[in-house]
Amino acid sequence: MANVKFHSGKQLPLEMHKVRIVQKLFLPPVEERRRLMNEAGNNTFLLQNRDVFMDMLTDSGVNAMSDLQQSAMLRADDAYAGSETYNRMVAKVREIFGMTYFLPVHQGRAAENILATAYVKPGDVVPMNFHFTTTKAHITRLGGSVEELIVKEGLEPVNDCPFKGNFDIPRLEALIAKVGPEHIPFVRIEAGTNLVGGQPLSLQNMRDVAAVCRKHGLRLILDASLLQDNLYFIKAREAECRNMSIREITAEIASLMDIIYFSARKLGFARGGGISMRHREDELRMKELIPLYEGFLTYGGMSVREMEAIVVGLDESMDEDIISQGPQFIEYMAKELHRRGVPVILPAGGLGCHVNATEFLSHIPQEQYPAGALAAALYIAGGVRGMERGTLSEQRNEDGSERFAELELLRLAMPRRVYTLSQVEYAIDRVEWLWKNRALVGGLRFVEEPKVLRFFFGRLEPIGDWQDRLVAKFREDFGDSL
Ligand code: F0G
Repeated sequence: MANVKFHSGKQLPLEMHKVRIVQKLFLPPVEERRRLMNEAGNNTFLLQNRDVFMDMLTDSGVNAMSDLQQSAMLRADDAYAGSETYNRMVAKVREIFGMTYFLPVHQGRAAENILATAYVKPGDVVPMNFHFTTTKAHITRLGGSVEELIVKEGLEPVNDCPFKGNFDIPRLEALIAKVGPEHIPFVRIEAGTNLVGGQPLSLQNMRDVAAVCRKHGLRLILDASLLQDNLYFIKAREAECRNMSIREITAEIASLMDIIYFSARKLGFARGGGISMRHREDELRMKELIPLYEGFLTYGGMSVREMEAIVVGLDESMDEDIISQGPQFIEYMAKELHRRGVPVILPAGGLGCHVNATEFLSHIPQEQYPAGALAAALYIAGGVRGMERGTLSEQRNEDGSERFAELELLRLAMPRRVYTLSQVEYAIDRVEWLWKNRALVGGLRFVEEPKVLRFFFGRLEPIGDWQDRLVAKFREDFGDSL
């Protein structure tokens, strides 16, 4: 955000935009929220948006578009093949990443499907700083496995490490020596590491990973879905980058990679995705999969209107004033919650404010899904929809036993340019109330448990009558307030 100081000395994150289209919100009464949460199987994915006051489920596809994006959408050139819109999209991605080849896909996981289908064979190992749910699902679907090589600080809820998403380079070297480069189809860097709290990698660490890959002739792929936040953190926290522009930092990161893919539901403030690549042989290997899974080569399953919005949105992702809004609001929320004693992931990352459910609900065992229980409780307490990022988001082991997540997090995502600071204050207030009443919250158990990506559709029920007691306490404390 621009360097604007407050005369009072109080420093608040300041929006560098104004709101010109609004959507009315509703907040159902607490008894209704409890009923709706149960109808939704205590799974925040299954709530209806009309029943949600603050939707902090994700920042995917729900960021506010700018006036320039909306107006660009009007000039979309609709064609099955050879649309001008596509040419504009390719030119913008080339300008930003400096790579010759580009393939369009309808969203991030579609890129993961194409990449995994093109490169992963049974028995292969894909090293990465940390997995993302859909990435891992595609790799394992093809008989490969994922090795997570994040630095140990990344899994500690609180420390002062500025780059908790970094790769542990000695572990990467050791893994390559152990499995052999021939069993590693690619190394994947995930910018803004989603599942550990949106934590960034440093530019230096990316250089180190790239050097190891070059030494062993390994392909290096960047998942740039959350690159925007990562760029902000590199500029803010990495001394040598302080005087570089966001574009310069992006160009240097891109110069280290063989392939960059992204979800434009995050990077680009729209909906869609793409895969950029440096080498012709990679393009040839993936190209034929696009018409099969996505759509013809000049739209890849995207609407041309969204593609026009991405072109403008990618430019906006290179604007420091614009990309600092998310991380600064998140930092505000995390610091305010920390000040009130609520356990949150620190330093704050991108994507959202992450509440540490292991500590928040230390009386709930992991097999009763503390992060899922906290998500259900927060919707009941305030109509705020967060997302479980813990054991529920994992898949069971082959033998049916639970794979316990290393971190049990409730993610409160901050869609870009969507909420005001007073709405964020409201969410902070309700989380704090829940913290003070945490002893009332109990666990959850599955009623219906899908085998794959169970967190999307699984249905759960509360263990015991804790939700009755939570609603009664809400009424006692808040009277007839919503
Ligand atoms: N990679 C990362 C790092 C992501 O965060 C996501 C999506 C994807 C890939 C897949 O992209 O949704 O366009 O298919 N993350 C969303 C989230 C779903 O809510 O965190 P997609």
